[in-house]
Amino acid sequence: MPQTAYVRYINAEKILAYQKPEDQLVCDGERHFQGVQQESELVWTRINLILKRAHEKIVRQELCAATHLLEYAAALWSELTEKNEELMWRLWPNDFLKVRKVIGQGGSTADSPRFIESKRRGKEFWSPYRKALNERSIKLLDVLSSDKDSDLSALTKAMMWYDYRVQEFNISHIYLVLGEIGDRTVGLKGGTVDYLLKRYEHYLFPELWDSVNSLYTNFKPD
Ligand code: HEM
Repeated sequence: MPQTAYVRYINAEKILAYQKPEDQLVCDGERHFQGVQQESELVWTRINLILKRAHEKIVRQELCAATHLLEYAAALWSELTEKNEELMWRLWPNDFLKVRKVIGQGGSTADSPRFIESKRRGKEFWSPYRKALNERSIKLLDVLSSDKDSDLSALTKAMMWYDYRVQEFNISHIYLVLGEIGDRTVGLKGGTVDYLLKRYEHYLFPELWDSVNSLYTNFKPD
């Protein structure tokens, strides 16, 4: 590979060295499966940096900046969802069966430190958000029931949007699992679709979603 500035800057040789050589692939689908997994790790490092910065902003009460960053991170989750959809659409189940034999027992993305970090960083957002409400002496229900646009309402919407994009990824992953190994085959770490469905119920901001119910407590149609 010619050693151009571009090749050196992105560490192209190192990155590509982590891909299986073509003659070692168990099938062409393995290029795409391994590629998507590798790309996802890179995207999670980007999401995690954005979440870290968003956290710094909300702690400093810079709500607008935190909002933009959360929206950016949400858009990156959509890219991950598209990758799941790509595999669901393209990866033939019998090809994945061949790939699965060479992944190795216990080789599950559930153990990805970057994925685990993204979950932690997402959930950590709740505490400074609560603090921002307290410092303004506003209840979440007041934000939801207000007709006025504010930095707080924009941030609240961005948090819903972020959580939604993460859950959307989870749902697309469930369908990917269904399409590749079915809903009763046990995963490499012992999970099935049933386990994944239970995990999917774990919203990042359950209180936020629940507060929408409170808006309707005394609701009566005209
Ligand atoms: C293509 C076929 C795939 C199958 C059959 C599959 C299957 C599974 C299963 C059964 C689990 C539960 C834990 C276990 O026993 O392994 C799991 C977890 C997980 N998978 Fe996949 N997966 C696939 C692809 C992917 C891809 C492309 C990604 C995206 C990077 C991904 C990300 C994850 C994550 C993040 C978890 C942990 C979920 C949690 O703990 O909430 N998987 N997968």
